[in-house]
Amino acid sequence: MKKYFVIGNPIDHSLSPKLHNYWLRENNINAIYEKKKIDEKDIQSIISEIKEKKINGINVTVPFKKAVIPYLDKLSPEAELTQSVNTIILMDNNLVGYNTDISGFTKAIKDLNFKIEGKKIFILGAGGVVPSIIFALNKMNVSEIIISNRTRQKADDLKTQFKILNVIDWGDLPKFDVIINATSLGLNDEVINLNFSDVGENKLFYDVIYNPGLTNFLKEGKKLGNQSENGKLMFVYQAAHAFKLWHGIEPIIKNETLKLLEND
Ligand code: ATR
Repeated sequence: MKKYFVIGNPIDHSLSPKLHNYWLRENNINAIYEKKKIDEKDIQSIISEIKEKKINGINVTVPFKKAVIPYLDKLSPEAELTQSVNTIILMDNNLVGYNTDISGFTKAIKDLNFKIEGKKIFILGAGGVVPSIIFALNKMNVSEIIISNRTRQKADDLKTQFKILNVIDWGDLPKFDVIINATSLGLNDEVINLNFSDVGENKLFYDVIYNPGLTNFLKEGKKLGNQSENGKLMFVYQAAHAFKLWHGIEPIIKNETLKLLEND
């Protein structure tokens, strides 16, 4: 039986096993997908198990998307440009790192009834998934990307990688058309301490968090008459792309698939 893992720390919250195992069953693939909490020192040995064919593929989540790179033989162009890997596969005996967060985010945004081209984007946070979001937004021809992070240095570091960025202090709220919460604030009912009362209408509030489905940030956006979307489809699309890379099959995404991820 083939074996797949998602590695990260923490990993308890991950719904990837639920989704992948569902698609594996649906496609009659004799494989299992599990989550594994690891420490940085374990990265090399778990990745080497792919080369030894004891493991067939790995998804990588917070905080190891960059840390896995030195142990890989090749990177896809997107993984190279973002220095972020979330899917590992063995191809012609080479360990190859892919980034499916970019396609996941892009597809999720394209599904929305919101024209993103030419829009002014404000990103909160500078963690593991943010380079992928910036890369995707750039490709979608947004007009400006402003970013703010509690630890400003991390946002400044991203600017050396993505010249389009405009870094502002944590706590400041610029004018925007789209605001993206890419912090972990909201996972445990936290509030983001910004005064949104003057942002106006017809904006998009997008939260990368999908569990809970309605964070305080999204509630606030809704209350002010704006469109609010959580990260569930981004999560499902990145998983579908990883599934396609490993199994060569595009999994079907239907309402039942999305229901799997509720109330967990
Ligand atoms: P990592 O930073 O390890 O990649 P992440 O979950 O991808 O982890 O990112 C967490 C994000 O949430 C970071 O932008 C983090 O800000 P810092 O870089 O300052 O740590 C942000 N974050 C977490 N807790 C926060 C808090 N209480 N207030 C503001 N931002 C917070």
